[in-house]
Amino acid sequence: MTAPYQVLPDLPPEEFADLKADIEEHGLRYPPVVDENGTTIDGHQRRRALEELGRDYHTIVLPPGLSDADKRTEARRLNLLHRQVSQEQRRGLIADQLKDTPDWADNRIAAVIGVSDHTVAAVRGELEANFAIAKLEAHEGADGRLRAKRRPIEIAKNRHDRQVTQRLLGQCDPTILPAEVLDVRGLGKAVNRQGRAANGEAEGDATVGTATLLLGDFREKGAAIADASVDLIFCDPPYTQEWLPNWVDLGEFAARVLRREALCVTYLGNTTCLEAIDGLRQHLRLHIAGALWTPGPRAKLFSLNVYIRCKPLFFWTRRDFVLGSQPWFFNGFESERLTKTYHRWQQGIAPARYYIETLTRPGDLVVDPFLGGGTTGVAALQLGRSFVGIEIDAVAMATATARIREAEAARLAAVQEAAS
Ligand SMILES: C[S@@+](CC[C@H](N)C(=O)[O-])C[C@H]1O[C@@H](n2cnc3c(N)ncnc32)[C@H](O)[C@@H]1O
Repeated sequence: MTAPYQVLPDLPPEEFADLKADIEEHGLRYPPVVDENGTTIDGHQRRRALEELGRDYHTIVLPPGLSDADKRTEARRLNLLHRQVSQEQRRGLIADQLKDTPDWADNRIAAVIGVSDHTVAAVRGELEANFAIAKLEAHEGADGRLRAKRRPIEIAKNRHDRQVTQRLLGQCDPTILPAEVLDVRGLGKAVNRQGRAANGEAEGDATVGTATLLLGDFREKGAAIADASVDLIFCDPPYTQEWLPNWVDLGEFAARVLRREALCVTYLGNTTCLEAIDGLRQHLRLHIAGALWTPGPRAKLFSLNVYIRCKPLFFWTRRDFVLGSQPWFFNGFESERLTKTYHRWQQGIAPARYYIETLTRPGDLVVDPFLGGGTTGVAALQLGRSFVGIEIDAVAMATATARIREAEAARLAAVQEAAS
């Protein structure tokens, strides 16, 4: 793609042949659009077809004086209008527009290039998270006025929150609901309070079979775990930029609680793994690097034009680790297809089961300081291990607790059935 304003690739040969045949049979529907210098803005394929057919044609000339960015915007608008684009191409065009005009509000971009506000907001969120564009405090609306970013009220604002809200409402005694506006966070807290009251448990914490679930920061709640008492840490901390300073604390925590011969297995983010490794290695020793493969629909990183098929999975030990009769294990694992039923960052249960089953024995203690939707806890209980899970977010904790309770009830029912 060498033409300066060509925003989509050339048509594949078969579609180009169809376009030529269509022009021959029906004539030209939309004349190519050019700038004041005759450079094509829209209609690269039509122009090529017309030239190959030896046809005369006229063009629409844009008013002079437009900037390069204005011309690219017009090219995107016209392509979205005339060409059948895939969802992936649509999001790619929006991403390019956001990189050109990050200061335009979502609704302005949506109106100018002819897409939905919702899709612009989703693509913007992804680009901001990957630092491809800056997070601005204000955006320019379609009327040219600068407006501060509106902070959304968190009432089930996405599919995940809606699912969590529905599940929490299902578990909730309506009489415990606060009378004022209820958001998903408040609902999680109310359900947690109800569960604690029913079990006579301490603030925020729960016990399910051999699992202890602690609500709070792993640095504070983790203090309850004795030195050198843990047989495996299996965890998936957040990979965000803001979270980077916490990796060193995770390393310190793991170095304190792990047994000398035990491993700490962590997922890492594809774009933030270097900082994570720097933090972890301050207190831990790298045992081996590895990877988790994720099948299913391809996750896309628009800021880098990469389809994500795997992420780093790293294996760490205490500094004074000595290899004895530890089991052999694979440093790579292919996860089952991921679902996000219990947490927006939920991982598959198969890798948790594989590493818990391989690296520990029944009755051993497994810890996940970032419980999320409770995946590691479910795997640990299914395999008859003791488990401590810590989670800072009350909504995630309520969901994970309910999920782990269900899994434990299913395990007990299976044991009873087998015994009868
Ligand atoms: C990537 S998610 C874990 C997902 C989990 N593996 C699953 O499959 O559902 C990371 C979790 O760590 C929690 N978290 C972040 N900082 C924390 C902290 N300082 N202490 C405890 N939990 C924390 C987040 O709230 C989030 O739920």
